[in-house]
Amino acid sequence: MKKNFYITTPIYYASGRLHIGSSSSTLISDALKRYKKSLGYDTRFMTGLDEHGQKVEKKAASKNLTPKEFTDKLAKNAKDLWAYIDCDYDYFVRTTDENHIKQVQDVFELMLKNDDIYLGSYDGLYCVECETFFSQSEVGEEKLCPECGRPVQNVKEPSYFFRLSKYQDKLLDYINAHPNFIQPEGKKNEVVAFVKQGLQDLSVSRSTFKWGIPIKSDPKHVVYVWVDALFNYLTALNFLNDDKSLYEKYWLNSEVVHVVAKDILRFHAIFWPIFLMSLNIPINFTLFAHNWVLMYGEKMSKSKGNVIFPKTFVERYGVDAFRYYVLREFPVLSDLICTPEDFISRYNTDLVNDFGNLVSRSLSMAEKYFSSSVKRKEIDSEYISDLKNEMNNTIQVFHEDMNSFRVDKALQDINKLVSRTNKLIDETMPWALYKENKMEELEAVIYSLLEAIRVETTLYIPFLVNTTPIIFSSLGVTTGTIKDLVPYETKEFNITKLSSPLFPRENDPKKAIDEIIESMAYELTQEA
Ligand code: MSP
Repeated sequence: MKKNFYITTPIYYASGRLHIGSSSSTLISDALKRYKKSLGYDTRFMTGLDEHGQKVEKKAASKNLTPKEFTDKLAKNAKDLWAYIDCDYDYFVRTTDENHIKQVQDVFELMLKNDDIYLGSYDGLYCVECETFFSQSEVGEEKLCPECGRPVQNVKEPSYFFRLSKYQDKLLDYINAHPNFIQPEGKKNEVVAFVKQGLQDLSVSRSTFKWGIPIKSDPKHVVYVWVDALFNYLTALNFLNDDKSLYEKYWLNSEVVHVVAKDILRFHAIFWPIFLMSLNIPINFTLFAHNWVLMYGEKMSKSKGNVIFPKTFVERYGVDAFRYYVLREFPVLSDLICTPEDFISRYNTDLVNDFGNLVSRSLSMAEKYFSSSVKRKEIDSEYISDLKNEMNNTIQVFHEDMNSFRVDKALQDINKLVSRTNKLIDETMPWALYKENKMEELEAVIYSLLEAIRVETTLYIPFLVNTTPIIFSSLGVTTGTIKDLVPYETKEFNITKLSSPLFPRENDPKKAIDEIIESMAYELTQEA
């Protein structure tokens, strides 16, 4: 039977234009989906928009639009962006979808029925930008949000509360019993330390504004936006509808991964599993919490003018170069400080000099020395058997890295193999073998180069989504899958030379950096 894989991004607030930071969660989810698909899994990749709450309501009003008019526009923009950077999602959830609203209303009633929710009154502090309640000690004397630094509001209103405290020990037990539940390890430790300080009951409804999902049994209240939003992962599988086939397939019988960034770790590692416990739904997911993409060391923000939108890089260097940079530098354990300088250096070094050059040189040699047709030939050669071992090792560590969300390392694994392959050219000097008419040895070398390129291209499938089909076709082989990847299996290569370089060199990085900075400034003036 096919194995199933369900991967989700956070649903982004429908409040502004998505930048390179927000794209990072979507890109890694896309790469992991493509990896699992290439392994033969039945995959479902979901993303979407978080459209309710005070923050969205305020932003819409500032544009003289109704919230729905505003979020319709942003939903279109988000879909256009994901298409633009080739993120191949299967379903786009919007929290204003009738299907989502209906199920969230049912969730609330079920929790009320279980006595996990009670009516009280909230008197405290709230950050609209982060849609988060804070205690006095968290905001300090100045009453500034500990997350975003903006002033928090005093909120006093009737509110429903969820009994988080009731589940504190159960959650700690769950985390202990499931060591891979929260990854990486450091993020798990943060969560455990936080829960051990003691969980306060959580306000789960708001009654002083309207833009949310009304509670069925008490429509003066709307559901707190985080409860509304977290359930997207299940409403999109119709978990409370009559037809539960998606829920059965992609939740109950699936590997499930939620990708989030560190600022929303607690919501996903504490509230979400507790809500599932309340409804008796298996906590069948792994949480991967990554760090941020920063620009010149600071969190991207429009007011600081340091936001990079994908378009700035994509229009100069193409989608694959953009995907490559973000995933090769992916902020798993520490933040990624993104600069145009680093982007260009990565591009010129890894994609132009190392991989692009290897492919074009090898294809040219195959054409020149063997009229484009190269058959499998193995000879006794230390260099070739070393390269062959390296191919096998690379495939093995590549799987380990992809399965622990280390796309950055997985790309380094491939790059090491690319270097090893380039080294074979220096070691064997094919042009000298040709001169000496050592055609058998020469064919074994060229075959090994092409075979290594085939292996590298197959492993690049989740990342270089436009370039890999071009290379397979130039090699004259069918597009492979990672599942069936065995080195030295190809019988024959039938080469077609590339019509243009895979990655054209950036010859004037200094000028390019100035132009990128100009483009960033221009993009900042554009509407969401
Ligand atoms: N709407 C909530 C998520 C609800 S999920 C049930 C939300 N939205 S958000 O738009 O503010 O952020 C969505 C994700 O994008 C978060 O994980 C956030 O950290 C991530 N990023 C936003 N800026 C980022 C960077 N600069 N770098 C990396 N990720 C960033 O929170």
